[in-house]
Amino acid sequence: MVGIYELKKGDFSVKVTNWGATIISVIVPDARGNLDDIVLGYDGIGPYINDTTYFGALVGRVANRISGSRFTINGTAYRLYPNDGRNSIHGGHRGFSKVIWTVKEKVDGEYPYITLCLHSFDGEQGFPGDLDVFVTYRVEANYTLSVSMQAMPLNKPTPVNLAQHSYWNLNGHNSTTTILSHIIQIFASHITPVDETLIPTGEIAPITNTSFDFLQPKPVTRGYDINYVLDSVIDAKGMRKVSVVEDDISGRVMELWSNQAGVQFYTGSFLEGVKGKNGAVYGNYGGLCLETQGFPDAVNHAEFPDQVVRVGEVYEHYMVYKFSVK
Ligand SMILES: *[C@@H]1O[C@H](CO)[C@@H](O)[C@H](O)[C@H]1NC(C)=O
Ligand SMILES: *[C@@H]1O[C@H](CO)[C@@H](O)[C@H](O)[C@H]1NC(C)=O
Ligand SMILES: *[C@@H]1O[C@H](CO)[C@@H](O)[C@H](O)[C@H]1NC(C)=O
Ligand SMILES: *[C@@H]1O[C@H](CO)[C@@H](O)[C@H](O)[C@H]1NC(C)=O
Ligand SMILES: *[C@@H]1O[C@H](CO)[C@@H](O)[C@H](O)[C@H]1NC(C)=O
Repeated sequence: MVGIYELKKGDFSVKVTNWGATIISVIVPDARGNLDDIVLGYDGIGPYINDTTYFGALVGRVANRISGSRFTINGTAYRLYPNDGRNSIHGGHRGFSKVIWTVKEKVDGEYPYITLCLHSFDGEQGFPGDLDVFVTYRVEANYTLSVSMQAMPLNKPTPVNLAQHSYWNLNGHNSTTTILSHIIQIFASHITPVDETLIPTGEIAPITNTSFDFLQPKPVTRGYDINYVLDSVIDAKGMRKVSVVEDDISGRVMELWSNQAGVQFYTGSFLEGVKGKNGAVYGNYGGLCLETQGFPDAVNHAEFPDQVVRVGEVYEHYMVYKFSVK
């Protein structure tokens, strides 16, 4: 059964569905106390089924692209479902964002949370081995949403790279202003450059003083779809600061923390005409994504941090979104 579940603390509200473990709304006040829903999405569940934007989705088994839809682990070759030309993207045709998850636990109270789980079977979309997957969305403080993801391979080593794919517009999902006017800071001084099919070349390129450089806060101003190599330091809780996004019109600020090595910065460059919630029609740059994750196509790049998880190991991915106003 597919349902919609709300996590509420004061006037902060997060709605999640077990269809694709998707975030469907996040409501936060602006600097004057007016509430807006600041993630893009659809009315009801139906439009999520054939959606190609991945609005709010929990993407897996491997988010981002795998070149040639193939990889080899310890001499065993695997072929995936190609759904991006010759390449595979976001777990294939029917990845984790296109299946029904089980609601394991939904707890209200001071720090409400919901835990969703999924059993991904051996050979699903071509990936090796059975895999148990868990995601917990939790309001862990005022205006603070954490996402905690775990995956355990049961019988074969497998690549795992989960990503939360929400599109944010801090001035409201139906804002007439695009995210090109948002001011963003990304704590990274390198990217993984890509070829014409958006597959990494393997290089880890410095970006200081280029148009990719957001070490100091700057307006977005143009389109991006690239993985940043984070260089912020891991703190005592195992987390690093990933990005700070500010919108001068609403005064809203979003801070993102994670334990991951990379973040895909995507500016929603192809949203023109997508019919969203409450009669909203989205345009290009209507929302931006900050998908913390490992590096794209790592399973085919020995020089990138390894994404293969072995039987007995646990994949763990944490994110914390902190909302405030200035
Ligand atoms: C999704 O697309 C299929 C094939 O085009 C169509 O049959 C189905 O009605 C669509 N589902 C929804 C919910 O729009
Ligand atoms: C590959 O095989 C070797 C030898 O059996 C083993 O030590 C290693 O853990 C295996 N690697 C993976 C990813 O399973
Ligand atoms: C959280 O919000 C409540 C209600 O507005 C307030 O009483 C409390 O002081 C806040 N807690 C913190 C740590 O800011
Ligand atoms: C970047 O630009 C600043 C200011 O122009 C300059 O001081 C600095 O040396 C430059 N850094 C690099 C790596 O080019
Ligand atoms: C969404 O924005 C459009 C254009 O500004 C406006 O016509 C429409 O009423 C808005 N919808 C809602 C639900 O606010």
